[in-house]
Amino acid sequence: MGRGVWVLGVRGRAVMIGSVHVARLKLRDFRNYARLDAGLAPGFHVLVGENAQGKTNVLEALYLLATLRSFRGVGGAQMVRHGAKGYFVGATIVASGEHEVRAYWSARERKITLDERPVRRLSEYLGVLRAVVFCTEDLALVKGPGRGRRRFMDLLLSQTEPGYLATLLRYTQAVRSRNAVLRQALPDEDVLAGFTAEMVEHGARLMESRAAILPVLAPLVAGSHAQVSGGRDEVEVTYQPAVRGDLAVELAKARGRERAMRMTVTGPHRDDLLLRLNGQPAASHGSEGQKRTLAIALKMAQARHLGAVHGVQPVLLIDDVMGELDARRRAGLMPLLHGVHRGGGQVFMTCTEENWPGDLGTELHRWRVEGGRCEPG
Ligand SMILES: Nc1ncnc2c1ncn2[C@@H]1O[C@H](COP(=O)(O)OP(=O)(O)OP(=O)(O)O)[C@@H](O)[C@H]1O
Ligand SMILES: [Mg+2]
Repeated sequence: MGRGVWVLGVRGRAVMIGSVHVARLKLRDFRNYARLDAGLAPGFHVLVGENAQGKTNVLEALYLLATLRSFRGVGGAQMVRHGAKGYFVGATIVASGEHEVRAYWSARERKITLDERPVRRLSEYLGVLRAVVFCTEDLALVKGPGRGRRRFMDLLLSQTEPGYLATLLRYTQAVRSRNAVLRQALPDEDVLAGFTAEMVEHGARLMESRAAILPVLAPLVAGSHAQVSGGRDEVEVTYQPAVRGDLAVELAKARGRERAMRMTVTGPHRDDLLLRLNGQPAASHGSEGQKRTLAIALKMAQARHLGAVHGVQPVLLIDDVMGELDARRRAGLMPLLHGVHRGGGQVFMTCTEENWPGDLGTELHRWRVEGGRCEPG
């Protein structure tokens, strides 16, 4: 790895932050891009343009390269340029070596290759490029229901803890099977006991991992938050398990309610993260700007944790975030973003105008986005 710096990682170990960056991006018939061929340096890229020109579409393509999914939660068909048959997204990713990723999608054929070899399973591919998206919808992490915060925890743990995703999938399947049994008029107690045992085994491991990540995550959130807010607000993040104590015991206690409701009423699928600002629940007491700042701090903590665990900074994809913050908070966020790219990372940020104070220096790469064209400017 060419560029890199030493930082203090998990459990106080010094880790090398190496660099991974997207060196070339190629789009064909992707969203409003008929074609795009862009050479991309490491560092900080700003995509500037009016509304509806194609800024977010570029971030979507970059995210697709990291996860093979759209962060807008849509399928392939929506990403094909209107009137075209299929899209192509390709990239050269530079890590310790160079990798070529190609994704082609049409109604008839889907093809993903890594260094010319077909990728059959997502698990074979994940880790080639890691990305964290910051977007206006992140506000739901603070304002919305617990599901969003659970997904945040699950994503972070899936990205950093081997085996977590498999445990989560097994747990979810056990709850689903259990619910199917409970829906029956006369649930078979033996079958139910089997699924309960599975749910307890995997659920206990999820709870353990979630409880263990909080002492790592909470200081990262608080640190990022203090930098963006200028230390004006105090933030606390705590794990709020649905079940306190032993999962098997609590499930046994809940059998009466389960019979009445015909579903599994408790377990880690109801867990949450408690977010507090200055001692009060953030969702009900924070201002819009305070909630946005907290959402950004959560994402920044995710990025920092990923960087520390893997020794490689994830690519940051920042969509429209600057427009939502006041001048002081914008000024607070910029050094954080610069820190990431100085650590060898790559940052892509969209905006309709450059409305942040301070000198960005010569390292900034500016792109003008207009009508499905993205050109250096
Ligand atoms: N499949 C598609 N084919 C052609 N055009 C599309 C497709 N999907 C989206 N678009 C168009 O792409 C345009 C740009 O979308 P994008 O979300 O990238 O805009 P943006 O520059 O981020 O704008 P804003 O500042 O409003 O967020 C939109 O006008 C949208 O209608
Ligand atoms: Mg946009």
